Amino acid sequence: MATSVDKVMVEASTGGSRFLRACLRQPVDCTPVWFLRQAGRYMPEYQAVRRAHSLLEICKSPELAAEVTITAAEKLDVDAAIIFADLLLPLEPLGLDFEFLAGEGPVVHRPIRSAADIRKLRTDRTGDLGYVAEAIRRAEKHFGDRKGMIGFCGAPFTLASYMIEGGGSRNYIETKRLMYSDPAAWQALMQKLQTVLAEYVAQQVEAGADVIQIFDSWAGALSVTDYREYVLPITQSLVQQVQVLGVPVIYFGVDTATLLPSMRETGADVIGLDWRIPLDVGRRAVGERCAVQGNLDPIVLFAPEPLLRARVEEVLRQAAGQPGHIFNVGHGIVPGTPVENVQRVVRWVREISAQISEEAVQPETRQLAHASAPRRA
Ligand code: CP3
Repeated sequence: MATSVDKVMVEASTGGSRFLRACLRQPVDCTPVWFLRQAGRYMPEYQAVRRAHSLLEICKSPELAAEVTITAAEKLDVDAAIIFADLLLPLEPLGLDFEFLAGEGPVVHRPIRSAADIRKLRTDRTGDLGYVAEAIRRAEKHFGDRKGMIGFCGAPFTLASYMIEGGGSRNYIETKRLMYSDPAAWQALMQKLQTVLAEYVAQQVEAGADVIQIFDSWAGALSVTDYREYVLPITQSLVQQVQVLGVPVIYFGVDTATLLPSMRETGADVIGLDWRIPLDVGRRAVGERCAVQGNLDPIVLFAPEPLLRARVEEVLRQAAGQPGHIFNVGHGIVPGTPVENVQRVVRWVREISAQISEEAVQPETRQLAHASAPRRA
């Protein structure tokens, strides 16, 4: 009985349902696939829009942001689309000015360094970010059930690191200095971020986001002790606040092999794995309750076809056809990546994962046939 119900589900499955089912660790017909930074600078259509508009102009125009999101997802034929936006957008309503400098990445003009700076941050202007929700509304209307719609925000730690360091960082000295020397100010900052981020993602869910991904990209800079003391509790609360809205949460970080058991304690439905840890090892570390997303090295997308295919198959073999895997890269696609290789990966993921689940089902089917034979006789 269960098999025939599943068969109906499988026949009716769309990219969107496949992606959502995998987030919830339910069986799927083949492994859903999408890519971190799938709409970025490696794509000629994005470059064309970018020649006419700055990054922030694209983010703040629901029409352009939706267009860039839709073009990439359709061209790649992926199962889910992440809304085109940037992690740093919430800094503006908090009261911090920033810009993206060519070749240097983001720069925050007056980074925060003290309890007094943190007191000045405003949490009452999150409505200003409504353009992201509006872009989601448009993209969602275009995709319908065909593709999952992913909203996102930065995690409190990763966002705080930009606000305090003033940009990207190697050693996070100022962030850790504040954390260690003024835990009350750190706590106040985390709480303000939680307030703003919870409201921001609620707008996105309201607008039609099916899933929220929380990027804690730089959490891997923390020891297990510091992660647990300064970051885990607030992240846990944020995850719960999103889940109350009725959508699954994907929680992602880079260089997190030692943090995975603690990251699982956030309660996220899915944990994003980078490529440094074999998928099966990562999966054991996050345990039964979580799905996993990942984890092809994005630079393998530059490799010759046979090697690329072998690495895709390796990830899928490590996932072993078990429910609760979303195929992705272990970190964002980088500029210069050949688009055809990304498209090839999508085709291979469908083909190889369907084959792996068939291999897993076959011995069982044979057993069933064998068991039912004497009854018929
Ligand atoms: O598919 C997509 O491309 C989705 C859109 C997206 C962007 N930023 C657009 C963008 C997403 C999901 C992000 C998230 C983001 N932004 C993160 C977390 C993801 C991660 O990589 O871990 C972080 C850390 C940022 C902050 C940020 N924005 C940095 C560090 C940079 C410069 C470095 C870089 O990779 O380019 C940006 C700029 C940025 N955000 C670009 C894009 C397409 C490239 C710049 C441009 O187009 O001018």
